[in-house]
Amino acid sequence: MQQLAKDPYRPIMHFTPPFGWMNDPNGLVYINNEYHLFYQYYPYANKWGPMHWGHAVSADLRNWQHLPPALVPDEKGMCFSGSAIVDWCNTSGLFDNESQPGVLAFYTACIGHDDGRDSEQMQSLAYSKDGGFSWNKLADNPILPNPGLKDFRDPKVIWHEQSQHWIMVVTEGQEVGFYRSSDLNHWEKTSNFGLNEGKHDEMPWECPDLFPILLEGSKVCYWVLIVGVQRCSHAGGSGTQYFIGQFDGERFINHHDAQTVLWLDYGKDYYAAQTWSDVENGCRTSIAWMSNWLYANDVPTQAWRSAMSAPRDLKLSETQSGLRLLSSLPKQWLNERNTIISQDKTLNAGDSFAIFQNYHAGILDGMLYLGRGSSISISPLGNECLTYNIERNENNIIITTSRKVGDDGEDNYTDMFSHESSLTIPDSDLLQFTLIIDRCSSELFLQDGEYCFTDLSFSLEVSSIEFCCSTGKGVLESLKFFE
Ligand code: FRU
Repeated sequence: MQQLAKDPYRPIMHFTPPFGWMNDPNGLVYINNEYHLFYQYYPYANKWGPMHWGHAVSADLRNWQHLPPALVPDEKGMCFSGSAIVDWCNTSGLFDNESQPGVLAFYTACIGHDDGRDSEQMQSLAYSKDGGFSWNKLADNPILPNPGLKDFRDPKVIWHEQSQHWIMVVTEGQEVGFYRSSDLNHWEKTSNFGLNEGKHDEMPWECPDLFPILLEGSKVCYWVLIVGVQRCSHAGGSGTQYFIGQFDGERFINHHDAQTVLWLDYGKDYYAAQTWSDVENGCRTSIAWMSNWLYANDVPTQAWRSAMSAPRDLKLSETQSGLRLLSSLPKQWLNERNTIISQDKTLNAGDSFAIFQNYHAGILDGMLYLGRGSSISISPLGNECLTYNIERNENNIIITTSRKVGDDGEDNYTDMFSHESSLTIPDSDLLQFTLIIDRCSSELFLQDGEYCFTDLSFSLEVSSIEFCCSTGKGVLESLKFFE
């Protein structure tokens, strides 16, 4: 209880660093039945500082064991974001005579940046001979020097089966560059993508990811390219967009036209999403930093700052809107043993209904029937800080998220933090929803995760979720609450 009073916002289900500052997930790799999570880390204060790679492992994506930082800054620079892979066949030549496959981490070494100078960014390599627990940096770093770009960072490395090459995708200003290698040390540039595609602002793109994925129910393979935008996301500020297309080992061809913008999330706090490498069952599991560069350094936590999103399993589906990625919670997050089933509830105009009282964290899953012309609001945590308003019109549904911070004098993050944004989705009688509530966040997945909304929401009040019907009629069906 004392712990709770000291650290009232620390989430129960979401990953946070033990203390200090965290941003992007890095080096996501699965080996020896464990998920490794590295992350941008500054252990000495709760604001961004010279970047380390923090480290944790989990067998189930729920319970994490904290480990000492894997990479720390040195004379060659800070350790910015990047990725990791298992070097199954010792392609790098770094793991002769080892009893288990080596693990490689690709990161951006960054000199400057925090001292007012223009930074110099280059791609570097670290290796682990003990399954990802202890790390050495390559003496010959960098493996990919800076070609003269101000922003050149966040390498994601993958194996491309078709061309039998390793591929590195890295951001180069407002686009990404593709490189290939046969020995994981020497890299040859093959193409760029993105200058006139998708969403841009005046800042560079960041944190790319690239992976193949089968269209659900078929054998057709597409490629997904993920990139972060810093200032122009759907809800404002940092956000994660993705492209669906084809990748032949050299270039990425967008399946949609250049103006189409696809978001992994429509909330304000879902950035730098990455997927785990080397997962055996081919599942694409992702995680993102649950914050926004507009106010990340100022949110009201003390010992630690920033949490990761809930992990998500991604699948590719043909929906009413076209090809889209759908997100769902990994099954380990839905503990059937502690499930409470609630009766259906009909709400007419003026009615309200509160559920999930006195819990600090949990997952509510259900269906919402909404009559035409009806509107229902959902306020997690019962404090009206965050409200989703769902309104069904003649031809579509409009979801408006609004987040307001109260005037308690403490909130120096108020201006940037408060927001309102709307999304119009195709009409439907029934809306499937999953709502993940924790002490500092709310994540709403609608229509089997085609539309996700992730927002921080700091509340000291007792938790509950309140549904209010303002016009027409709504029915909450098949409600299940996972403790
Ligand atoms: C994205 C980012 C990356 C960079 C890292 C630095 O949030 O700006 O581009 O590598 O954070 O911490």
